[in-house]
Amino acid sequence: MNVAIVGTGYVGLVTGVCLAERGNKVFCVDNNPNVVEKLSAGEITIYEPGLEDIFQRNLKKERIEFTGNLEPAVLRSQVVFLCLPTPPGEDGSADLKYILGVADEIGKILARNPGVGHKVIVDKSTVPVGTCEKVDAAIRKHLDGKFEFDVVSNPEFLREGFAVEDFLRPERVLIGSRSERAIVLLNDLYEPFLPAGSSVIVMDEKSAEVTKYAANAYLAMKISYMNDLANFCDAVGADVEKVRDGIGSDSRIGRTYLFPGLGYGGSCLPKDVKALLKTAQDAGAPLTILQSVEEINQEQRKRFYRKVERHFKGKLEGIRVAIWGLSFKPNTDDVREAPVFYILDELLRAKASVAVFDPEAMRNVKAKYGDRLEYAESSYGALQGADALIVVTEWNEFRKPDFKLMKSLMRQPVIFDGRNIYDPVKIRERGFLYHSIGRKSIEAHAPV
Ligand SMILES: NC(=O)c1ccc[n+]([C@@H]2O[C@H](COP(=O)([O-])OP(=O)(O)OC[C@H]3O[C@@H](n4cnc5c(N)ncnc54)[C@H](O)[C@@H]3O)[C@@H](O)[C@H]2O)c1
Repeated sequence: MNVAIVGTGYVGLVTGVCLAERGNKVFCVDNNPNVVEKLSAGEITIYEPGLEDIFQRNLKKERIEFTGNLEPAVLRSQVVFLCLPTPPGEDGSADLKYILGVADEIGKILARNPGVGHKVIVDKSTVPVGTCEKVDAAIRKHLDGKFEFDVVSNPEFLREGFAVEDFLRPERVLIGSRSERAIVLLNDLYEPFLPAGSSVIVMDEKSAEVTKYAANAYLAMKISYMNDLANFCDAVGADVEKVRDGIGSDSRIGRTYLFPGLGYGGSCLPKDVKALLKTAQDAGAPLTILQSVEEINQEQRKRFYRKVERHFKGKLEGIRVAIWGLSFKPNTDDVREAPVFYILDELLRAKASVAVFDPEAMRNVKAKYGDRLEYAESSYGALQGADALIVVTEWNEFRKPDFKLMKSLMRQPVIFDGRNIYDPVKIRERGFLYHSIGRKSIEAHAPV
C-alpha cells in the first residue's frame, strides 16, 4: 500500500520505517528541511533502539522517501497519517495549529485534484476529543461535497525506548472510525504487525481520542501515586521499594509504572495530563484526581533537590556536581520536559559547577545549555573531582558501576539517587553517603 506520513519525528519516523519494513511504499513529509535533508542522506535524526538498521535497509530498497512537499505524497497515497506535534498551549490545552494547518492544506490539494480517488486521513497525534470532526471540517470546506475521504482516529501507544518493538508487535491497535471502508483498509495495513493474542479494537472517533488520554493519564497517576507514597514511607519509616514489590505482585495492580523517582517527563505524559485536565474542565466534568497527579509530579523534583540543598547546608557555590542521565527515561535521547532541567537550573542558579553524562541525550542538552555545563565523555569522566553524584536517569550502564573507581575519582563520596537503582545498605558499606527516595529508614540505619 502507498502511505504518506506527515511529520517525521519520533512517531512519524518510527511509523514510516516500520510500515516500509512490511513492504509498503512510504512517503515521509516534514516541513523542517534539515530533517528531510538528513534522512534522505541516510542520517538518522532520533535515537531509538533498533531503528537505524531498518531505516537503512528500507532506504536502500527505496521503500521510504523523505520530502518537504506534501502534495505529491498525498496524491500518491491511499492513507495519510498525521504524526504532528500537539504541544500544550498557554492554558494547557493541546495546540491544534499543526494538525488543522495540514488538514487545511490537504483540503486544498484534494480540491485541486478531484479525480485522485478515496483517501483515508489518519490522526495518529494525541489530540483532544472532537479533533477528528475538526480535521474533517477543515478538509471538507475546500471540497464540493462529492469528494470521498474519511478521517480516522488511530492513537499511537508506542513507548520511546521501545518504539520499534512496540510498532512491529503492538499489544493493540486502536481504530476510531465509523467508516467500514476506512476500517477495512487500516485492518489490512496493520494485519502483518499483529501477533497472536493482540487485536485491532474498533470504536467511534471520540472514544478513541479519549482512550489515548485516559491511558496516559492513568500511567501518570500510577507514577504520582508511588511518589506520594514514597514520601509517606519516609515519614513513617517504611521502605517504598518493599511496598512496591508487595503491591506489584497483586495481579489486579501489576508491576509496571510503580517506580518512585523524580516524576514523569517526556513529550507525552506532562502535556497529555494538562490537556485532559483542560478538556474535562471545559466540558464541565473536571477530572479532579488529575490535578493532584500533576501537582505531585511538579513537587517531586523540588523535594528531591531540597535533599541536595540540605546536604550542602544551602551552600552550593563552588561545589562540583556530576549528573548521570539527562533523558527523561533510559533508551532515548528525548529530553522534552525532562526532570533534569529543574535540577540543572537550580544547581546553576546556586553557582555549582556541573558535569553531565548521558549515553544518548548530550547533544540535545548541549543545544539548550551550551558551555554552562561540562559534557563528560564517560560516566566516570563526569565524576572527576565531584562533591556529589546525582543519578537522574536509570540507564543500564549506571546500575552496576565500579564503586571503587567512583570513590577514587570523587572528592566526596556522596550519591543522590533519583531512581533508587542502588541498594542503600551495600552502597553505605562501600563508603558512600547515600540519599534515595522513600527509603530514609534504611539509609539511616545501614552500617557506615
Ligand atoms: N513521542 C512519543 O513517544 C509519542 C507516543 C505516542 C503519541 N505521541 C504523539 O504523537 C504526536 C507527534 O509526537 P512526536 O513525539 O513524534 O513529535 P516530534 O516533535 O518528534 O515530531 C513532529 C514532526 O512534525 C514536523 N512538523 C511540524 N509541522 C509540520 C508540518 N506543517 N508539516 C510537516 N511536518 C511538520 C516537525 O518538524 C517534526 O519533525 C504528538 O501528538 C504526540 O503527543 C508521541
